[in-house]
Amino acid sequence: KRVTVLMGGPSAEREVSLTSGAECAAALSEAGYTVATIDVGKDLKALITAIEAQRPDVIFNALHGRWVEDGNIQGVLNFIGIPYTHSGVMASAIAMDKPMAKRVFAAAGLRCPEGVILDKAAVMRGDVMARPYVVKPANEGSSVGVCIARIGDNDPFAEANWSDDMPLLVERFIPGRELTVAVIGGKDGDRAMMVTELRPHSGFYDYTNKYTGGKTVHLCPAPLPEAVTAEAMRMAVVAHQSIGCRGVSRCDFRYDDTTGGGPEHLYLLEINTQPGMTPLSLVPEQARALGMSYPELVSWMVENAAC
Ligand code: DAL
Ligand code: MG
Repeated sequence: KRVTVLMGGPSAEREVSLTSGAECAAALSEAGYTVATIDVGKDLKALITAIEAQRPDVIFNALHGRWVEDGNIQGVLNFIGIPYTHSGVMASAIAMDKPMAKRVFAAAGLRCPEGVILDKAAVMRGDVMARPYVVKPANEGSSVGVCIARIGDNDPFAEANWSDDMPLLVERFIPGRELTVAVIGGKDGDRAMMVTELRPHSGFYDYTNKYTGGKTVHLCPAPLPEAVTAEAMRMAVVAHQSIGCRGVSRCDFRYDDTTGGGPEHLYLLEINTQPGMTPLSLVPEQARALGMSYPELVSWMVENAAC
């Protein structure tokens, strides 16, 4: 089969996608596919021309972030009519809009941290809820622009690079632990892989701690009570299904074990429809722990592509 890997893109996660795409392309070649890549820019005509020139059997979507993980590219690929990996238009659009995703999750009975949507001016005017709370752009990934307002911090948003018109999601900060669960969904049903716990050496699991080797300890599987593991895996499958995901997705959670813990203290933060595929990324790590190599994982994605 001929596979074209889409990578790069114009979002803030461009560099992450270039790494994901290069890894995927190498692994697909290793698995025996004929592989080409396209560095996606903002010129739609150039993208369509490049895809038509390569005429692949399957498009491997290794893009992350706004414009490319939010349904826009997926809609273009539907028009072109070539099967592509990961989710389609609706799931991509809902997942990339965190407040919208939270509404769907609430309707599906999934616990999320309480939140409000505000603009930068409102956030900067002063505390908008009791501290600690988290402020994040409503539609970014990789923790780009995420700030935590902690008790006693005089200038929590000093590093924030939000634009004036960017919608911001302000959420109660959930103390405790950071967890993630991948879901692999196909013809045989949707299955959670396992639970990973992320323990950064300092601060929270931000962009630097995500993509710099040695900065975060990954515990895979996470050392949790069985009921908590089972509930996180159940919630991830429900989240995946609630927005209509296809292929592989990944749900990020906080688990508050500071007051005794238990499954009812799990909070879903978000779902990622184009989870990272870098050497430090979590989906390939969970797959590996289940005995599925990186080339086997990307081959599965290609063989389960749709449009
Ligand atoms: N947004 C990044 C790529 C992730 O979720 O892995
Ligand atoms: Mg994300």
